[in-house]
Amino acid sequence: MALPEERFPFPGGRSDQAFFADHGERPLTMRGVTEADLPELLRVDREVFPDDPYPYFVLRQHFDVHGDRILVLDDGECLHGYVLFVTTSDGYVCWVLSLAVSPDQRGRGLGRRLMLEVLRQLRRERVHEVRLTVEPANAAAIMLYRSLGFSAEGGVRRDYLGPGEDRLIMTLGTGPGLTPGPSGLRRG
Ligand SMILES: CC(C)(COP(=O)(O)OP(=O)(O)OC[C@H]1O[C@@H](n2cnc3c(N)ncnc32)[C@H](O)[C@@H]1OP(=O)(O)O)[C@@H](O)C(=O)NCCC(=O)NCCS
Repeated sequence: MALPEERFPFPGGRSDQAFFADHGERPLTMRGVTEADLPELLRVDREVFPDDPYPYFVLRQHFDVHGDRILVLDDGECLHGYVLFVTTSDGYVCWVLSLAVSPDQRGRGLGRRLMLEVLRQLRRERVHEVRLTVEPANAAAIMLYRSLGFSAEGGVRRDYLGPGEDRLIMTLGTGPGLTPGPSGLRRG
């Protein structure tokens, strides 16, 4: 089975090159987050997760502890999305804790690009499995993850993120051959 990066190659080659310069918009670039991005990161997070945004201090501490695990989509003035992924201390499993694309930028392949870059990095680091959680009703996210090879074999976990917060846990093996895992986006 082909790797997701092979099935969905970056049209322009390297992922750190600017892309989506069409429609007269400023070109978007995917890059690592910086401390100066934190206010914008907070804004995007609130825009995408209005009911359950990260408090500033949580984003701040994610940045302090694993800022190299946050990728942002930047047009030079504003951020339009981000992904946050964290590997367990044994280095075997990575949880995707948050994936966000601004509403006005959806359906253009940006969510997939963020996830493909995460998978590319994790495969290089020899992480064995990627996990995430998703709301069972979040069809767009589930379709995206399935298109990348994630599977949800354990079914819906009741109250996984607290009372009434059921989540589907999806997994992807990242070893040779990319076998879907047997067996986290925070808010899903
Ligand atoms: C989920 C999310 C990140 C997808 O980002 P996006 O940039 O719009 O997604 P893409 O354009 O890369 O789409 C990739 C695939 O996702 C699926 N998808 C995306 N939007 C979809 C929709 N509205 N309905 C069904 N499938 C959809 C499709 O399989 C699509 O592949 P295709 O274009 O080849 O058909 C975005 O909708 C978002 O930020 N949602 C709110 C936050 C959220 O739900 N985050 C994930 C939590 S688990």
